[in-house]
Amino acid sequence: MATSGLIIRLFSLLCIIPVRCCAKSCRPTNDAALFVFGDSLFDVGNNNYLTSKIPFQANRFPYGQTFFNYPSGRYTDGRTIVDFVAEYANLPLALPYLHPAYRQWLDGANFASGGSGALCETGQGQVIDLKTQLDYFKNFTKLLRKRIGEEKAKGLISKAVYLISIGSNDYVERVVVNSSAFSSYSRDQYVDLVMGNLTTVIEEIHNEGGRKYGFLGLGPIGCVPQMKMLADGTCCCHENEASVLAKLHNKALSWILRKLQKQLKGFKYSLANFYDSLTDLINNPIQYGFKEGGVACCGSGPYRGMLACGGILGRTSYELCRNSSEYVFFDSVHPTDRANQFFAQQMWIGHPHVAAPYNLKSLFKA
Ligand SMILES: *[C@@H]1O[C@H](CO)[C@@H](O)[C@H](O)[C@H]1NC(C)=O
Ligand SMILES: *[C@@H]1O[C@H](CO)[C@@H](O)[C@H](O)[C@H]1NC(C)=O
Ligand SMILES: *[C@@H]1O[C@H](CO)[C@@H](O)[C@H](O)[C@H]1NC(C)=O
Ligand SMILES: *[C@@H]1O[C@H](CO)[C@@H](O)[C@H](O)[C@H]1NC(C)=O
Repeated sequence: MATSGLIIRLFSLLCIIPVRCCAKSCRPTNDAALFVFGDSLFDVGNNNYLTSKIPFQANRFPYGQTFFNYPSGRYTDGRTIVDFVAEYANLPLALPYLHPAYRQWLDGANFASGGSGALCETGQGQVIDLKTQLDYFKNFTKLLRKRIGEEKAKGLISKAVYLISIGSNDYVERVVVNSSAFSSYSRDQYVDLVMGNLTTVIEEIHNEGGRKYGFLGLGPIGCVPQMKMLADGTCCCHENEASVLAKLHNKALSWILRKLQKQLKGFKYSLANFYDSLTDLINNPIQYGFKEGGVACCGSGPYRGMLACGGILGRTSYELCRNSSEYVFFDSVHPTDRANQFFAQQMWIGHPHVAAPYNLKSLFKA
């Protein structure tokens, strides 16, 4: 695939020396590694290696146009939130775990997959669901122990930070697809189902030795261009079913994390209030140096809410804005590089109302 060649070249340029060496010598070994699980907000290109029929892949221009100058598989014009976090943590940019040239064992791994959810039914057959991402991680830890030895592996795993962004697609699935599997479940029952699966994954990572977790809460899902288009209006995006579910999820997540902190040995976490941060950008773009908070840079239809950017999902016709850095949303769902930088900064040094009880900077140091 042409993309892979480009990625390898870019990484060679960034590190001057090959990637393997980069992992060992470009970084003081006492820095914490970074493991990433979740959906398209965190995917750095794993979906490029899926072979489903209608793959959900951000592998065409204009994806990647601002920072990488090629479509790396990230669902944005440039970097994702986790790319910025890696930078702040002195880690190199991550190759997706499924990339054939992935060698960054000591720096961690990114297993995230666009379109995935905590439920297996979400995007079934087209994504790597959270449980499969966990399976990849378990295989990773086995191999790591073989490579660097039991003792060192244990140290790396317990010192590492585990970032997770999951849930949005489960609720979009419920609101938009409403497949029969869970249609009889109440809102609360459905949220419990999602939380149950997420909790299992956290416990299993903890079982493997993971201690420090960073969670991106859910955004105002009903207020992104795609959902505004489907709901036909901006007036009530916070009361829209998708946002209501996101708020219920965030409440439940915050409660469960406090509970896990008491139950799991050494468990520390940072929960980012993505709902308020994104709402703030959507409502006050000018205040943060953006021009447009409500319409996507790339897409078609009202608010450019139809997910068609770059011909994604086989939809070939779309409009593209002149300067994506003026926009909060790059495509109908995903923030721009510039907005992602804003969120990553908030998560990194944020005060307790945006990232609590730890921010990521103190979590990496802890
Ligand atoms: C998660 O939920 C699904 C239902 O979609 C279930 O089949 C699966 O086994 C659950 N558990 C985990 C850990 O994902
Ligand atoms: C993990 O390793 C086992 C044994 O090698 C293999 O069967 C399985 O497919 C792997 N899982 C993933 C998700 O790669
Ligand atoms: C999903 O479909 C069921 C019937 O199949 C319906 O009762 C329910 O209201 C629908 N849920 C949503 C969120 O539209
Ligand atoms: C695009 O917008 C950003 C933010 O307003 C600005 O800094 C940059 O100069 C603009 N780029 C071009 C090519 O106009």
